[in-house]
Amino acid sequence: MNDIWPKKLFLVGCGNMAGQMLTRWLACGLDPARVTVLRPSGRAVADGVQVVTAYPASLAPGTTVLLGMKPYQLGDVATALAPLCGEGTTLLSILAGTPLADLRRQFPKAGPIVRAMPNLPVGLGQGVTALHAEAASSEAARTAIDALIAPLGLAEWIADEGQFNEVTALSGCGPAFLFRFIDALARAGEAIGLPADQAARMALATVHGSANMAAQASDSPAVLADRVASPGGMTREGLNILDADDRLLKLLTDTLCAARDRGEEMAQGG
Ligand SMILES: NC(=O)c1ccc[n+]([C@@H]2O[C@H](COP(=O)([O-])OP(=O)(O)OC[C@H]3O[C@@H](n4cnc5c(N)ncnc54)[C@H](OP(=O)(O)O)[C@@H]3O)[C@@H](O)[C@H]2O)c1
Repeated sequence: MNDIWPKKLFLVGCGNMAGQMLTRWLACGLDPARVTVLRPSGRAVADGVQVVTAYPASLAPGTTVLLGMKPYQLGDVATALAPLCGEGTTLLSILAGTPLADLRRQFPKAGPIVRAMPNLPVGLGQGVTALHAEAASSEAARTAIDALIAPLGLAEWIADEGQFNEVTALSGCGPAFLFRFIDALARAGEAIGLPADQAARMALATVHGSANMAAQASDSPAVLADRVASPGGMTREGLNILDADDRLLKLLTDTLCAARDRGEEMAQGG
């Protein structure tokens, strides 16, 4: 089998998000001996993974660096890290709202730089990761990143980096919106008289089963919805409420717009 893993993986920060990515990579066969994590706390990460609190003297050629700290720390991190990065270093950044041009300015001598926006289910291999590489990136660099991201779930290359706030609104923030929907479905069940704990279990299992079913179906979710709603039946009556004046669609469009606009404000320093 091909070795899909980078020769060395150096993680700068390993909190909620980078930690989920690393958990999945290790579960899929990444040798922990190839991984070094830099985190100020020095807290252990996983068996066999080296954790350091200071930068090494050098990075081996063929190292992929995952920038997984907070975006505001980029300047400080780059001061220490950029001198270690040469042509043989690939940078993968998950820093929200940090354009490739800023990363290139901070790491002028590094090899390929790829921007990624993962979401939390990557830890289960069921995440979504949006990717964007510099125009000059080689096919080989993109292929290597594809191989690294594949175990995390769906990978989507975004043609226009200007759309990162849009994809972040949909898939980056999406898990929270879905958690809210599951909770609302449960509370609605409670509102019409079901015991709260039972409604919560049923709402979660309904969303889980339906999402799996939609993922395996050859028809779109829109078609599936109509197929289970026979005219005059209960499901159709319920759908008529969701569909009236496109109210669910408008609610979700407003939700994504608000998240996107906040991303744009933050990029302006707001
Ligand atoms: N959370 C999400 O859903 C999500 C989604 C997409 C992208 N992101 C991006 O992921 C990045 C991390 O977010 P998070 O939620 O994972 O944050 P987090 O849980 O707070 O993790 C931050 C990590 O950075 C480390 N760190 C702190 N100061 C550092 C420094 N000076 N140098 C190097 N590392 C340092 C921390 O070390 P210790 O472990 O020692 O404290 C920690 O491991 C952000 O850039 C965010 O935009 C997050």
